[in-house]
Amino acid sequence: MKGLRIDNVQAGLESKVILSDLNLYVPDGEVHALMGPNGHGKSTLANVLMGHPRYQLFKGAISLDGESLLDLDVSERARRGLFLAFQYPAEIPGVTVSKFLKRIADLRKDPPKNASAFLTELKQNLAFLEIDPSFVNRYLNDGFSGGEKKRMEILQLLTLKPRFAIFDETDSGLDVDALKIVAAGINKMRGPGFSALVITHYRRLLDLVKPDAVHILERGHIAASGGFELVELLEKDGYEGVRRLSGTVKEAVYAS
Ligand SMILES: Nc1ncnc2c1ncn2[C@@H]1O[C@H](COP(=O)(O)OP(=O)(O)OP(=O)(O)O)[C@@H](O)[C@H]1O
Ligand SMILES: [Mg+2]
Repeated sequence: MKGLRIDNVQAGLESKVILSDLNLYVPDGEVHALMGPNGHGKSTLANVLMGHPRYQLFKGAISLDGESLLDLDVSERARRGLFLAFQYPAEIPGVTVSKFLKRIADLRKDPPKNASAFLTELKQNLAFLEIDPSFVNRYLNDGFSGGEKKRMEILQLLTLKPRFAIFDETDSGLDVDALKIVAAGINKMRGPGFSALVITHYRRLLDLVKPDAVHILERGHIAASGGFELVELLEKDGYEGVRRLSGTVKEAVYAS
């Protein structure tokens, strides 16, 4: 079955358990939203999926298009098409944006045929994302504003064309115009051969991206899944409303 599958995962940071009994399936071609209270494990899940060396998987299985990711390190997962847009993108002084993008473009499945094909594509992506061309000569994220860093993550997305993208609060800190551009970047990728998990706290990005499904991660596992009505319920009644909806004994214990 094509898609990202997470089965019964228990994982955490070093020896601390943060995620438990976590199940999630994102089919090929779908974009799912992941919401949840602060500190309940969303970024942890992103790091575990990506294979961050400080994070440990204690139990369970993770596969992409039927292939287990568990024995693969970060770079091998990236080569399989996994991409993480960071909540806090790192500054890399000494590496220019253009060098970095050329390098990742050359490593993707269908690399640009030559330098001029790469430059044409880069120009188109810069125009699409309304990024000033002078940015490509700057060091990656060095001195970039919060919003500029997030736009740079989307430029990487369009350059890398990954199989599965995780956006960890890519909408945070964006002004309304930048938010539209980021949403357009995600929507541009949509279609067969691309799936994504969009981690966010607010509906404003989801209004533009229109996710195929919405999941709520609470206390380290998926506490509720549904459609856009979950986002509306969350906005209206907060997480208490979602807990009432899921209403299992387990949730009642959590809420107390
Ligand atoms: N380096 C660390 N040392 C100790 N605890 C950590 C560390 N990193 C994360 N944690 C803890 O792991 C838990 C889950 O954090 P995580 O970043 O996954 O939450 P989150 O759902 O992404 O929250 P937010 O919505 O605020 O981004 C939190 O309790 C956090 O304090
Ligand atoms: Mg987080």
